[in-house]
Amino acid sequence: MPVYLERETDYNSPFWQSQDTCQFISNQMPQKVDVVTTYHTIAKTGTIPEGEGRAFHVEGLMIAVFLKEGQYTAINDFCPHQGAPLSTGYVDELGAMTCPWHAWRFCIKEGTWLDNPKSKLQVPVYPVRIEGDEIQVGLDLEKEETSPSSE
Ligand code: FES
Repeated sequence: MPVYLERETDYNSPFWQSQDTCQFISNQMPQKVDVVTTYHTIAKTGTIPEGEGRAFHVEGLMIAVFLKEGQYTAINDFCPHQGAPLSTGYVDELGAMTCPWHAWRFCIKEGTWLDNPKSKLQVPVYPVRIEGDEIQVGLDLEKEETSPSSE
């Protein structure tokens, strides 16, 4: 469950150096066990304009990838309210994305619902890495249990 930090946001702090960009503590998220992350190339660097998002189909999911101050983030593209494509939302200077349909706001870094800090509602977040000129998004897959060979 996200924890709301009751303090003023420093609007002058660099976006990516802040641990509380969206005013939440990320380590409160549930931890997954026995998973392996596999990375999928979704686009070339330069495909996503600074300050905007684009949607990509990855392994049956629609994932919104944003570029904010030179760094990429990825969240699920479907708004948990009524399913609007979050990749088309407006991203402000603090990394808060506003849903284009009814203006709910989510953090593009943590997936948290910024309009209701006490809510457990959260958009799934995915890791992003750059390999050469490729943007890659990581998906967690449960590790398959292996049984010993019986020959
Ligand atoms: S569909 Fe996103 S706020 Fe309603």
